[in-house]
Amino acid sequence: MLVQKAIFPVAGLGTRFLPATKAQPKEMLPVVDKPLIQYAVEEAYAAGVREMIFVTGRHKRPIEDHFDMTFELEVALEQAGKQELLDIVRTVKPRDMECIYVRQSQALGLGHAVLCGQRLVGNEPFAVLLADDLMVGEPPVLKQMVDQFNDWHASILAVQEVPAEHTKRYGIVAGTPVNDRLTDVSRIVEKPAPADAPSRLGVAGRYILTPGVFREIANQPRGVGGEIQLTDGIAGLLRREKVFAYAYQGKRYDCGSKEGFLQANVELALQHADLGPGFRDYLKTLEL
Ligand code: UTP
Repeated sequence: MLVQKAIFPVAGLGTRFLPATKAQPKEMLPVVDKPLIQYAVEEAYAAGVREMIFVTGRHKRPIEDHFDMTFELEVALEQAGKQELLDIVRTVKPRDMECIYVRQSQALGLGHAVLCGQRLVGNEPFAVLLADDLMVGEPPVLKQMVDQFNDWHASILAVQEVPAEHTKRYGIVAGTPVNDRLTDVSRIVEKPAPADAPSRLGVAGRYILTPGVFREIANQPRGVGGEIQLTDGIAGLLRREKVFAYAYQGKRYDCGSKEGFLQANVELALQHADLGPGFRDYLKTLEL
C-alpha cells in the first residue's frame, strides 16, 4: 500500500517559544521566507503524499488561511503583472493536494493529536510530520522513509544519534541493526534520563506508521508529563508488528527551540539562491 496521507499535529502550545507563540502558531514562524509548516508540507508532497491532515487547536487559523486561496492578493498581483510573486503564492497549495483540518480541543499530547486523525486516515499507512523539526535532506527525508516503507511494509521511525546528555528530549529506540541505516526496533522509551536510555538513537519528528498504531494509542494511559504519548503507542505496536528505525541522511533543525530556529535561519539564508551571497558578506562584517 502507498503512503498517501500525512498527519501534521499543529495543536501544541509552543511554550518554549513564548512570547512569539502567545497568539500565533509556532508552525507559522518563518525560516528565511517560508513558514515552518510549508517546509513540512512540501517535504510530504515530494514524498508522494497528496492528502494533508492538520490536527489544529486554538490560534491555528493562520495555518488554514496559508493553505487556502488568497483571492484579493492573487487578483492584485495579476493586475500588477507580478507573475513571479503570483507563482510563489499559487504553489503553496498545488491543485492535486488536499488539505483537511481536524480539531484537537485540548492539547493532551502528541499521541492524542495523532489519534484525532484516525477517522480521516482509516485503514492505511500514513506519515506524521512535526513541522517544528525542519529537515533538510536530498532526497527529502520523508521520501527516504517512504522508500524504506515500500521495501519493508512496516512502520519506519526517523532517528539520529543524539548526545548522551540530550536523551531526555527524545523518544529513544534500541534494537538489532539490519544494515548501516536501519535498526529492527525492540524497545522505545520516551524521554529517558541518560542513565536509563537504551541507546543514543533519538526519534526525530518524522514517522511512517501502520494504522494498527491507533488502537495502541487509544489503549495507553497518560505517560511522561501527563500526556498521551505517541511513543507509548509505538511501544504497544512493537509487540504486534515490526517497527524499523531509519537513520536519515540530512540535517535536522529543532525549530521548536529558539537556538535551533536561529541556526536554521542562518544556514538556510546562506544556502538561499538570491539571499545567500549578500548574507554571507554581511555576516563577515560582524565582529564575532
Ligand atoms: P512539542 O513537544 O514540541 O510541544 O510537540 P508543543 O506544545 O508544541 O511545544 P512546547 O514544548 O510547549 O514548546 C510536538 C508536536 O506535537 C504537536 C505540536 O504542535 C508539535 O508539532 N502537539 C503536541 C499537538 O498537536 N498536540 C498536543 O497535544 C501536543
